[in-house]
Amino acid sequence: MRTKFIVVSVIVLAIQGTWAFYWPWEALSLLVTLPLFIMGIYEMLQKDHTIMRNYPVLGRLRYVMEVLRPKIYQYFVESDTDGTPINRINRSVVYQRAKKALSTTPFGTQLDVYAPGYEWVNHSMHPLNANEIKPDQLRVMVGEGNCTKPYSLSIYNISAMSFGALSANAVESLNWGAKVGGFAHNTGEGSISAYHLKHGGDLIWQIGTGYFGCRASDGTFDPEQFKQRSQLDSVKMIELKLSQGAKPGHGGILPAKKNTKEIAHARGVQPFTEVDSPPRHSSFNNAKEMLNFIVKLKELSGGKPVGIKLCFGIPEEFENLCKEMVESGIHPDFITIDGGEGGTGAAPIEFSNSIGTALRDGLIRSSDYLRKYKLKDTIVLIAAGKILTGFDIVRAISLGADACYSARGMMLALGCIQALECNKNTCPTGVATQDKSLMKGLVVERKYVRVANFHQETVHAVAEILGAMGLLHTKEIKRSHIWRRVSITVTRTYAELYPDQEAS
Ligand SMILES: Cc1cc2nc3c(=O)[nH]c(=O)nc-3n(C[C@H](O)[C@H](O)[C@H](O)COP(=O)(O)O)c2cc1C
Repeated sequence: MRTKFIVVSVIVLAIQGTWAFYWPWEALSLLVTLPLFIMGIYEMLQKDHTIMRNYPVLGRLRYVMEVLRPKIYQYFVESDTDGTPINRINRSVVYQRAKKALSTTPFGTQLDVYAPGYEWVNHSMHPLNANEIKPDQLRVMVGEGNCTKPYSLSIYNISAMSFGALSANAVESLNWGAKVGGFAHNTGEGSISAYHLKHGGDLIWQIGTGYFGCRASDGTFDPEQFKQRSQLDSVKMIELKLSQGAKPGHGGILPAKKNTKEIAHARGVQPFTEVDSPPRHSSFNNAKEMLNFIVKLKELSGGKPVGIKLCFGIPEEFENLCKEMVESGIHPDFITIDGGEGGTGAAPIEFSNSIGTALRDGLIRSSDYLRKYKLKDTIVLIAAGKILTGFDIVRAISLGADACYSARGMMLALGCIQALECNKNTCPTGVATQDKSLMKGLVVERKYVRVANFHQETVHAVAEILGAMGLLHTKEIKRSHIWRRVSITVTRTYAELYPDQEAS
């Protein structure tokens, strides 16, 4: 679009210049085109707004609409959703936090507090100042007592998104943001690229069914490659992916077109060939074998925490896994529960909309099973699924999470506008594309700050909520702290709706 803009501008200005030479009054038309041309050049050179960099002049229309939009919504739209996965209110919270713009909203609550489903926490008569909550209280130790290199995890981290789904500039900005903000960046199943390592942010290396980055030529797990990569300093934890909420039980296909040389290099596959990730792992067939595989990964990595990621599925299978952990004495250091409402670069609609348990139900069930088998205190539970605000984090923690991930929140912080083109390689913001001309608009030196800001402001919001509740530590948050309006006349706490499972 940038090249097109320059070519079209030069042609138009040349025609107008020629006309003006023969018919001087035609020079007046330059009063319109010349300012537009200058504005376009300025927009191409500025580094803050990707859409304007990628679409000079035309991109400005979006910003005009953005200025007008709250008023348009206020008058014409009653719902807080606008047909995109992340609703308008939460999306603008992320934008504001990423830019460290206004941290307040005017006039009062934007939610219908009498609508069934409205949720809140109650404050204390004796609130604490957020400054009294020490940063360490907002971190969680993973693998303590179970591995030689435990990791201190922030309560909010970047969820798995591969280089391939995301552009090189997006991956680099996320990792740099993680470095500056002191939180972790999950690689996604596309393995570790140079962009993950350039800034030295902490990595959680995700191993999917394609074993990218530790893949033998027949597509099975290669221990030697795993050993080398997992022992990199930046790699702090390993996450074995069983499923993800947007497409549980479905593998993935990396189309030949998207399998560029750089992506193929990171994944250890042949460039420009189609590469499949099967729906299941070839390294194990049942819970017992999976636990043994976890032990192997831990040994090969030199004692780093190893966890699993899944969207909660068949309850009996999860219970069976818990029983197996108790019997064998082997357990993962963390379990990530992804909600059925989770995001993806591309998935069949049935899998996105109708397969897999939603986050809150998945968290309740998994934490109840872990409690039942007395495993809750040894395994860190991480939650993912539309966790975008401090309240979302507090709510997830009340249901059993110890820490949280965000994927799409981090994309929004990078400038994603939910154009819903991640699967077409035409993402206008340069976040989810391999098109170099679009990627250029995303300026790493500007966007990493937004990622760090978003994290910092959101974690600060958690501290403020804790303070208002009169609590010093996230560990003190209980189900009884969260209230839900069930009907116009009935409100219940989460403890009443989802009674805690007693350890048996
Ligand atoms: C573009 C994109 C790529 C993703 N890639 C992966 C992946 O490689 N592995 C994985 O486990 N989850 C992947 N996910 C899912 C996220 O890690 C996360 O679990 C899910 O989107 C829920 O978090 P969110 O609601 O904050 O987006 C991806 C999500 C998005 C949006």
